[in-house]
Amino acid sequence: MITVNRRGRKRQFLHLIFTCFFFSLVLLYWEQLDANVISHVKSYSYRYLINRYSFLNDSLTLNKEIAVSLHSYQFLITHANKCQDQDVLLLLFVKTSPENRPRRDAIRKTWGNEHYIYSEFKANIKVLFVLGVYKDPSQREAIQSRLLVEDLQHSDLIQQDFYDDFYNLTLKLIFQFKWANSFCQNAKFVMSSDDDVFVHTPNLVKYLLQLDKGIRNFWIGRVHRGAPPVRNKKSKYYVSYDMYQWPAYPDYTAGAAYVVSHDVAAKVYEALMTLNSSLYIDDVFMGICAKKMGVEPQQHMYFAGEGKTPYHPCIYNQMMTSHDHVKDIYRLWQEATDSKVTSLTSGFWGELYCRLVKVFLLCKPYYVDTYPCSAAFS
Ligand SMILES: *[C@@H]1O[C@H](CO)[C@@H](O)[C@H](O)[C@H]1NC(C)=O
Ligand SMILES: *[C@@H]1O[C@H](CO)[C@@H](O)[C@H](O)[C@H]1NC(C)=O
Ligand SMILES: *[C@@H]1O[C@H](CO)[C@@H](O)[C@H](O)[C@H]1NC(C)=O
Repeated sequence: MITVNRRGRKRQFLHLIFTCFFFSLVLLYWEQLDANVISHVKSYSYRYLINRYSFLNDSLTLNKEIAVSLHSYQFLITHANKCQDQDVLLLLFVKTSPENRPRRDAIRKTWGNEHYIYSEFKANIKVLFVLGVYKDPSQREAIQSRLLVEDLQHSDLIQQDFYDDFYNLTLKLIFQFKWANSFCQNAKFVMSSDDDVFVHTPNLVKYLLQLDKGIRNFWIGRVHRGAPPVRNKKSKYYVSYDMYQWPAYPDYTAGAAYVVSHDVAAKVYEALMTLNSSLYIDDVFMGICAKKMGVEPQQHMYFAGEGKTPYHPCIYNQMMTSHDHVKDIYRLWQEATDSKVTSLTSGFWGELYCRLVKVFLLCKPYYVDTYPCSAAFS
């Protein structure tokens, strides 16, 4: 009896030790667990609430005069006539910074070449680089005069008088919609992208041309669903509870590249005139504006968001955007628009071959930030 009892007690004791050990581990890693797992589960369940109810609208709506005063900066370079008296298929804004001239030049010579698109598709696209003012006062004047020279050469910069800074990206977003609604209401589609994104403009233009002419409520890109605000103070994307109190953002497309139809551009503009625009995560703010107007984003599988394309002709045949291309932009443009791409990927054998290649490239057993596996079957 005694030995059994002792064994029982020993087991209880071990049990207690293990339980304590387990809980201290949980406590120790709680912060990480909370940031990486629980906040996502929580936000995903809140997503339906956030997407359905008007909390957001109520907490962020301001009197129009006050809301507008938050972003009424002077236009420094405008190009008000850019879209006048012509059919514009796509108005394409590239968010860039004053010092990134090499990136702009690369885009002008590759995917942002309006003349190339016109000669291939008889479609007008307008590419505009969107800028604020260089922040560091010691170099501001020199950089500004170089910008003016650049604009004399290319006539494709637009600039507003706020400091060009990551935390002013929402001002840049508002600038784009303000410009589109003031000077280019005749554009059928409006796009926003970063200057380190590769946009496969030939594929995109082909795709937009075959859409229904009267299409409305159109908003495509890489959709983030039920994303939680980052509450880690060390992160670049940190957002305080004061700024945004809910556990999930409404659905939105990654700011790296998305496309909207002209009616959506008008609605977003209308919404942002009565919203508190202090939230500096620009793509999330765009999501809030769209939410307010009842517009939902749609996933397009070949928009990469923050991800990068695998280099392969079978992908070039369908890709729309890919992130993080600076050095390789000329090479990628050459390869992705080579006429061999079409011949290699068409016909029965070409399609079969590409199906297999895409499954191999996109359907990995581990996570790679690129196009989703389902894109291999589209
Ligand atoms: C948003 O809020 C404003 C004022 O708080 C209200 O007038 C408006 O009707 C609301 N819009 C929606 C879509 O709930
Ligand atoms: C954003 O721009 C405004 C206007 O130039 C400026 O006052 C503010 O400091 C800028 N914000 C950041 C984070 O640079
Ligand atoms: C806008 O929201 C911020 C919090 O992000 C707040 O500090 C500010 O007072 C609000 N602005 C107005 C005009 O209510």
